[in-house]
Amino acid sequence: MKGPKKGIEWEKLGFGFSDVNCHLRMTWKNGRWSKPKFVKDPSITLHIGAACLHYGQECFEGIKAFRQKSGKIVIFRPDENGKRMYRTAERTCMPPIPVDTFVECCRAVVKRNSEFVPPYETGGSMYLRPLLIGTGPQIGVAPAKEYTFLIMVMPVGSYYKGGIKPVRAVIFDEWDRAAPHGMGDVKVGGNYAAGIFAHEKAKREGWPVELYLDAASHRYIEEFATSNFAGISKSGVYVTPDSPSILPSITNMSLKQCAKDLGIKVECRPVPYSELKKFDAVAALGTAVVITPVWEITRGKDVIKISSPNEVHPILQKLYDRVRGIQYGTIADKHGWCFEVK
Ligand code: COI
Repeated sequence: MKGPKKGIEWEKLGFGFSDVNCHLRMTWKNGRWSKPKFVKDPSITLHIGAACLHYGQECFEGIKAFRQKSGKIVIFRPDENGKRMYRTAERTCMPPIPVDTFVECCRAVVKRNSEFVPPYETGGSMYLRPLLIGTGPQIGVAPAKEYTFLIMVMPVGSYYKGGIKPVRAVIFDEWDRAAPHGMGDVKVGGNYAAGIFAHEKAKREGWPVELYLDAASHRYIEEFATSNFAGISKSGVYVTPDSPSILPSITNMSLKQCAKDLGIKVECRPVPYSELKKFDAVAALGTAVVITPVWEITRGKDVIKISSPNEVHPILQKLYDRVRGIQYGTIADKHGWCFEVK
């Protein structure tokens, strides 16, 4: 495995695209997947009638790889992302990638780009973006007959500026993210497209993130536009919504386990909006955002001040330190979450 490439200003990295050695590409035709290829050129040529362009037949994942203190490079829980992409592919009538193949593809593309995994001390990571798209031309609405699977990788820093710095959030009642019995529980681009308009408005008006309520009644908390929701109750319980229309987040799954390991009680249940003001802390949870505390939430005239903009609740800090410690190899990985790249 190569050491970090010289000449990159690792500390200045944000969450954006940068060029690396190659990405991985695999195609599906005549009922089978090809062997993976490693391609330098980051652009792809698509048929003008590709199903992903017209009917949104696509899905993606977000995964991180870390350079640990010992120098080892590991990928965090790619098997869980592989299982989630398998479910999303089935839901969108695309040929699923076997989970073992998915994990091997992740390892292979990180290995070929190992000098772009940020140095341990910088707190950065390599972001992997697996993408499955319907590439065959499809003019009537139906599944495509050809598909492409890609894994793009790049070194990244924090998603929101400032690492674990609390942010403000907003709820807009005018727009929903996912309908009951819709696609909210799988990772399709359309779920994010549904939020772009609201997201741009939120950013313009000073909120880096939006929180969505359930589309049917607007009485229950679902998730943030980019990530899951958790609240810490006055009695120190980790509370996270149980809903069929939110994405089963691998970060949330890991934090629930970390909480249990630390003796923190976990409740996964419907969370009414009225409970928001009772929380001592709220956070957005995801691969990209890790744990981002949310100190204030605005809904119309209702401004709920949850915590202070300058403080991180000790339970959130403990969970953050635990999961980051496992990822960077300073805390024992007793659940086998880190997949080494050799
Ligand atoms: C991730 O957390 O990896 C995601 O895919 C969310 C995306 C909006 C950045």
